[in-house]
Amino acid sequence: MTVYFLQFIFTETRMTWCLHWWLVQFLICHAMTCNADAEEISADPRHCMEDVSTNLTKGDFQNFIKVIDSLQKGLENTNVMGTTSMSAGNLVALLNKANPSTSLKIHANNNEAKLEAVSNSKVIVQLPKGLGAGPTNTVVFCMVILNEQNRLTWGGPGLIYDGRLVGLSVSGTPVSGLQECVNITINMTTTINETQEPMCVFLNFTTKNYSSEGCQTLWERDQTYITCSCDHLTYFTVLIVNSSPSPSNQKILSYITLIGCSLSLFGLSIAVLLFITHKKFRADVSMKVHISLVFALILLNVHFLPSEMVAALSSNSLCVYMALALHYSLLATFSWMALEGFHLYLLLVRVFNIYIRRYLLKLSVVGWGVPAVIVSLVVIIDQTAYGYTPVDSSNPNGTAICYVTNTTAMMVTTMGMICLVFLFNVIMLGVTVRRLISLRQGQETNRSSTTKDIFTLLGISTLLGITWGVGFFSVTTAGQYVFCILNSLQGFLIFLWFVMSLRKAQKAAAEIRNDTQTTSGPKSK
Ligand SMILES: *[C@@H]1O[C@H](CO)[C@@H](O)[C@H](O)[C@H]1NC(C)=O
Ligand SMILES: *[C@@H]1O[C@H](CO)[C@@H](O)[C@H](O)[C@H]1NC(C)=O
Ligand SMILES: *[C@@H]1O[C@H](CO)[C@@H](O)[C@H](O)[C@H]1NC(C)=O
Ligand SMILES: *[C@@H]1O[C@H](CO)[C@@H](O)[C@H](O)[C@H]1NC(C)=O
Ligand SMILES: *[C@@H]1O[C@H](CO)[C@@H](O)[C@H](O)[C@H]1NC(C)=O
Ligand SMILES: *[C@@H]1O[C@H](CO)[C@@H](O)[C@H](O)[C@H]1NC(C)=O
Ligand SMILES: *[C@@H]1O[C@H](CO)[C@@H](O)[C@H](O)[C@H]1NC(C)=O
Repeated sequence: MTVYFLQFIFTETRMTWCLHWWLVQFLICHAMTCNADAEEISADPRHCMEDVSTNLTKGDFQNFIKVIDSLQKGLENTNVMGTTSMSAGNLVALLNKANPSTSLKIHANNNEAKLEAVSNSKVIVQLPKGLGAGPTNTVVFCMVILNEQNRLTWGGPGLIYDGRLVGLSVSGTPVSGLQECVNITINMTTTINETQEPMCVFLNFTTKNYSSEGCQTLWERDQTYITCSCDHLTYFTVLIVNSSPSPSNQKILSYITLIGCSLSLFGLSIAVLLFITHKKFRADVSMKVHISLVFALILLNVHFLPSEMVAALSSNSLCVYMALALHYSLLATFSWMALEGFHLYLLLVRVFNIYIRRYLLKLSVVGWGVPAVIVSLVVIIDQTAYGYTPVDSSNPNGTAICYVTNTTAMMVTTMGMICLVFLFNVIMLGVTVRRLISLRQGQETNRSSTTKDIFTLLGISTLLGITWGVGFFSVTTAGQYVFCILNSLQGFLIFLWFVMSLRKAQKAAAEIRNDTQTTSGPKSK
């Protein structure tokens, strides 16, 4: 029904299935001085680099930023002619003054940086034209390779990939808002496991933190390199972070959900109105079954829409109620979906030639009773099973909703129930389709009846919540969107179904009034 909810339900499964998103972050070389005055450093940049190299092996993040700052200033103030390459310990640098206004391609391995290809290349930097550099400016490239300990310790949300920091700058002029992005491509030496992903970041020296603003991570799983594409120059690095839904996707999905849920609620309410105002509907057993599903969906939507808001209110009893109601209405929706399948089977395959006493009552007992039993069981087994629970289980401090907190209970009841209902309904749909085909073969087929069949099937699929099945296989982002939209619109589709049934009923009534002989096929709804 809604994105968060779906995400919530599928989170456990998704932990192993990987969702593809990448966040982008960069680290950038900024200008500062090598502690001592610039003159001295320019006299001996290699000494400065060695100094920095030593200092990098100790100290904290703050110190690290200071050191990097110094290094960059030092390099920028170094006087060079043409292109100069330097290295010291775990630092590699290249200064280029040849023609800063042309595009540059810098190749670097752990020991050297060159404008032409190097053996064992680890990093390639492509600098665009027009960095705003004149003949007096120097383009500075430097690469810092951090040791194992330091990759972990500093601030950011993840490990620094390969311990590599790539700094870029132009002396005397800050470079930002580039038309053509600077691309930093890093060869991958270790694989990134399924639960993680790279994120290009840069070091913001003002906030003394990593940021990904203005930078993009270009990477696909199984790709052997990571490209960071950024619109400014500083110290860039790739952080390895836990895969997480991209915020923008989440936001979009969340809007789709909101709109979808509202549309659904609207459609469902109209369906109820139609049911109340049309005698024909009320007399029809099938419609009574449909309207039960509609009620379950209304309950679900009504409790889901404000779920996040209620969770934010921090009223415990209200949250427990919402959690109970949400779980109950979800289970009721599932059970009524299954009952729709069962009813369809009776209707088309058995053609109502069996009479079941108090049929609707029995269906209702199953439809509303089974979920109540399940919810009661969960409460009996674990009193604390309902309450606040994060939407994303890997981020316990993230957005919370009120739902089942006990993961086992949640998995068994929701996932188990979805599986069962899906399986059951697929079987029912298969049997029904077979029946429809054999019915059509027995008759003269015509165009309109084929169309009708398609509509019937479409409606059936909707009612049976086959869309929920689609969700099972929607591991890709695109699949998630489809799933989200379909599910959000389920209520609305049901409303369309009601309207179509109504029109069909009216047409049939008109035909009967005209005293036309009509073949009475299966009374499909
Ligand atoms: C490195 O550290 C030493 C002492 O810890 C300090 O004197 C020196 O200025 C530092 N160098 C740089 C480049 O930060
Ligand atoms: C990655 O390594 C291969 C083989 O050594 C090399 O051809 C390629 O240019 C490297 N790519 C980068 C971005 O360094
Ligand atoms: C960097 O990559 C982007 C996208 O792949 C491309 O449009 C741009 O021209 C590249 N920049 C340079 C300097 O090659
Ligand atoms: C992925 O890496 C993380 C950290 O290195 C580790 O905790 C996790 O178990 C790994 N996951 C898989 C599926 O290998
Ligand atoms: C660094 O952070 C400050 C404060 O948030 C911001 O104004 C500045 O633009 C950031 N620098 C870069 C290069 O993004
Ligand atoms: C750095 O930024 C990240 C988010 O980008 C944040 O989680 C973290 O708390 C920040 N660290 C500091 C020291 O501000
Ligand atoms: C969540 O918040 C608690 C307390 O506010 C804190 O101790 C814990 O480290 C946080 N966890 C994460 C993953 O941020």
